[in-house]
This record gives sequence, C-alpha cells and structure tokens, in this order.
Amino acid sequence: MAIGRLDGKVAIITGAAGGIGSATARLLAAERAAVILADVRAEDAAAVAGQITAAGGAAIAARADVSDEDQVRALIGRAVTEFGGLDIVVNNAGMALHSPLAQTALADFEAVLAVNLSGPFLMMKHAAAAMRDGGSIVNISSVAAVMAVRGAAAYTAAKGGLLSLTRVAAAEFGPRIRVNCVCPGTVRTEMPEELLRTRGDGDAEAGARLTAQRYLSGRLGLPEEIAATVLFLAGPEGSFCTGTVLIADGGVTAQ
Ligand SMILES: NC(=O)c1ccc[n+]([C@@H]2O[C@H](COP(=O)([O-])OP(=O)(O)OC[C@H]3O[C@@H](n4cnc5c(N)ncnc54)[C@H](O)[C@@H]3O)[C@@H](O)[C@H]2O)c1
Repeated sequence: MAIGRLDGKVAIITGAAGGIGSATARLLAAERAAVILADVRAEDAAAVAGQITAAGGAAIAARADVSDEDQVRALIGRAVTEFGGLDIVVNNAGMALHSPLAQTALADFEAVLAVNLSGPFLMMKHAAAAMRDGGSIVNISSVAAVMAVRGAAAYTAAKGGLLSLTRVAAAEFGPRIRVNCVCPGTVRTEMPEELLRTRGDGDAEAGARLTAQRYLSGRLGLPEEIAATVLFLAGPEGSFCTGTVLIADGGVTAQ
C-alpha cells in the first residue's frame, strides 16, 4: 500500500522503458517520489512517464545511454535543474547476450560490460556528488552474479562485477549515501525471452515452464515483485541496509 514513503524525494531510474524499470518507476512515483525515467528507448520511457503523470505523479522521461559519460552527466544534471536535487538512483538498465564463452567475440563481451557494468559505474561516479544526504542507490544485478548461467559469460561477468562495485560504492559513499544491490531470478520481461526460447526448443512458454520447475516458488518473478525490493532498499524501511544484496529469486539459488 502506497503511503508516501518517498515524499519529497527525487529518483532516477535507468532502463525505465523496460519491464522491471517501468514497474519500479511506477512504484516509486506511487510513493510520491518525483521520477526521471531514463532509457535509450526515449518514446517508450515517455509513454510510461505520461501514464505516471496522468495518475497524478511527477515524472519526466530522458533519452540517455548509460554507457556514455556525457549523457550520464547530463541526465544527473536534469534531476537537479528540473526537480531541485537527487536522492535515489536505480541502476536498472541492462542488456543480455546469449553466447557461450568460447564463442563470444571480444567486442560483444565489451558491449555487455559497457551497459551492465560501466553504466552503473558512471552513474554512481557522477551521481554521488549531486545526491543529497540520506540518498540511496540500488543496483540491479542478477542471480547470474552468484551462480553459473551457461551461455551468459559476458552478462554473468558484468553482474558479478556490479555486486562487487556495490560494496566499494557503499564503503566510499557511506554514511552519507547507502548503496545496495538486488539480484533477481528470472522475471518474465523481454530480456529472458531468447534464453527461454532456447531452453524450450523454440517455445518460450515451454522454456518458462521448465525454468519455473527449478524455482522453489514454482513460478517466475513479476516486475512488480522486484520493484518492491527496490522500494524497500531505497526507502525508509531499508535505512540500516548498505553494501548488501537482496536476492529475490523464488529460491533458485537456495538449493
Ligand atoms: N528479466 C529478468 O529475468 C532479469 C533477471 C535478473 C536481472 N535482470 C536485470 O533487470 C534489469 C531490467 O531488465 P528487464 O528484465 O526489465 O529487461 P528489459 O529488456 O525489459 O529492460 C531493460 C531496459 O534497459 C534499457 N537499456 C538497454 N541499454 C541501455 C543503455 N545503454 N542505456 C539506457 N538504457 C538502456 C532498454 O532499452 C530496456 O528498456 C536489467 O539490468 C537486467 O539485467 C533481469
């Protein structure tokens, strides 16, 4: 239930046109944060921002590639110029690559690292000085950071790096800013579709069923369930959490 937990706060959510990012932007806005929805898919981000404002929230969309330092600087500047400050950063933008390690071209490996690891690095590097005291950063990593995912070498390396980077940022930015990490299991957004199709021999629904059998929850996750973990870490309820990881994965890594 939304009770205005983030009243007066300003949040940037990257990758906010996508499944988990848009659900997170909607939830933070419902808790009365002013939200900036950043994405390379600017029109889709603008559509979500429009729905949030139509529902009475404060939201703007921004075209930004998180792997481009100038665009990251400009994005963070917009929080200050348009909403007067910055309190919350959700580093959610990401891309997947399904390619076995031995067949992965260096350029493809580096492209995944650029978005999934250098992106959050640049965001944290430039956001820290702009953020107000009591700020909170939440990095969206993955269970791939803590378990082997065959065929996802670059993605796994990037997400493992992001988990480690979270701890360094928490150490360097504390006690002024808390920095935490969420590791979701499979959530049915656009991102895992190719992997699920491969697992299901061309049938994504079959792949999803097979994957869900490995989950203690017996099902895959919902974007709203990951958004709820972000809200916990970003908001007042997570006030004693920093440098930590919240694994929201239906129990797949518990076995
Ligand atoms: N869906 C899952 O099963 C799952 C599991 C674990 C972790 N995650 C992570 O959750 C996050 C969100 O993923 P999702 O499932 O919502 O996928 P998604 O593909 O729906 O959303 C990702 C968003 O990131 C944006 N994006 C990509 N590159 C960008 C860039 N350079 N700059 C700015 N935006 C960029 C995309 O346009 C897209 O809107 C990702 O970091 C992903 O790795 C997802």
